[in-house]
Amino acid sequence: MNSTTNVLCIGAGYVGGPTMAVIADRCPNVRVTVTDINAERIGAWNSDRLPIFEPGLDEVVRRARGRNLFFSTDVAGGIRAADIIFVSVNTPTKLFGQGAGRAADLQYWEKTARQILEESDHGKIVVEKSTLPVRTAEAMARILKSNSRGLRFQVLSNPEFLAEGSAVKDLEAPDRVLIGSEETEEGQRARRALVDIYARWVPEDRIIQSNIWSAELSKLTANAFLAQRISSINSISALCEKTEADVDEVARAVGTDSRIGPKFLKASVGFGGSCFKKDILNLVYIAESYGLSEVARYWEAVVRMNEWQESRFVHTMVASMFNTMAGKRIALFGFAFKANTGDTRESPALAVATDLLAERAHVVVTDPKALDNAREDLAGVDGNLVFERDPYAAAAGAHAVAVLTEWDIYRTLDYRRIFNSMIKPAFIFDGRNILDHQALHTIGFNVYSIGKMPLTTV
Ligand code: UDX
Ligand code: UDX
Repeated sequence: MNSTTNVLCIGAGYVGGPTMAVIADRCPNVRVTVTDINAERIGAWNSDRLPIFEPGLDEVVRRARGRNLFFSTDVAGGIRAADIIFVSVNTPTKLFGQGAGRAADLQYWEKTARQILEESDHGKIVVEKSTLPVRTAEAMARILKSNSRGLRFQVLSNPEFLAEGSAVKDLEAPDRVLIGSEETEEGQRARRALVDIYARWVPEDRIIQSNIWSAELSKLTANAFLAQRISSINSISALCEKTEADVDEVARAVGTDSRIGPKFLKASVGFGGSCFKKDILNLVYIAESYGLSEVARYWEAVVRMNEWQESRFVHTMVASMFNTMAGKRIALFGFAFKANTGDTRESPALAVATDLLAERAHVVVTDPKALDNAREDLAGVDGNLVFERDPYAAAAGAHAVAVLTEWDIYRTLDYRRIFNSMIKPAFIFDGRNILDHQALHTIGFNVYSIGKMPLTTV
């Protein structure tokens, strides 16, 4: 690779931002520009307050920004200068027309493809980073090849497997990097150019190469398998609550089978995040469109189980609190979809808060990083709702506390102090099974958790 490879990323979100920062950090002779149509977001990437919270990201950005990492709103100029263009714009679930509620909304993607074509004066490598329905790369290649100027483009699929909260770690030491391309000579050459970038810090045996559709389908399948494990253990959690088995003990016993493994077996109030639901629904839609309705129903059940788990949590709260929540103050500990992120997309907390407000509870939301997003998410929801930074203040005068995000700080709070400040009988619902339930029960709480028998005092 020559010393002036210009990499552009279109879309400075949770995926594009950290991925490009790590590439720039690890490849000082590659010039990386990240663009976005959202000027405010770009402003934040150029400031001391990055638009997303990720452990370790500030340091990576600080090292590379201004050296070979640039954030800009000039998409057209960026396209013109680029040799390799990553496309990392969002692909939300389509809300209208055919496939509404399931298919991916590809409007930003197609618009981006057309803009690349319009602004390019030489052929480029276009890398699909957004998770997309299988065969989208083909559609993009057709748009790009539809030019009469003789420009030659190669489209690669390079799905991102980073998880939020550990993005920098995942990018710096990935389990694998997956690169799909056309099997043609030109396709292989383009693939090689991208392998060369990753090979600066990723061992080559972790860089998997495949055809383009395998790469696209692998991403959807990986997310579907991960989500399926959570729905599987959550389905067992319901059974545990009826049978006096303990879901954490079951998960431990099951996970020690080396064929199964211990990860992603933590029962919870439900999985969230921008990817799992969207990607599974996408898989469902693709299966349906090929007439494979059994395949579609199979994967759809993973999403349904998750929705049921969220509503079951609120049902347990209402049933245990004497079947009425009206006027009761309920403190929600955590709103982010997981710990170590401010992201609230598809967070189970949103479903829980909405259901509690519909029960006319007074909901107090606290979270160390996600309060701004929570405020936005709940803006249109009617009801008695307040936001409180301090968990002690949130719990004061409450009838119940519900832990919805597994933030470390919630493990070490002074629960005796919290108990003393609450209305009695005091309830605690641990939607992440992170607290010491026996100790809470000894303090005097009625303790409800996921997949374990409740510890009650009344
Ligand atoms: C997104 C998708 O949700 C995911 O499926 C995919 O795998 C990667 O891209 P994420 O980075 O988390 O993930 O999304 P988001 O934080 O919303 O970032 C997308 C960015 O693209 C936004 O900042 C948006 O302003 C920008 N964008 C969108 C453009 O720059 N141009 C567009 O035309 C549309
Ligand atoms: C996921 C994939 O892990 C990642 O590879 C992909 O690129 C994007 O989607 P992310 O959504 O950021 O990443 O977070 P992840 O750690 O997978 O957690 C998703 C949800 O599952 C969270 O709400 C989390 O709390 C929940 N979860 C996870 C459980 O409820 N139990 C578990 O055992 C693991």
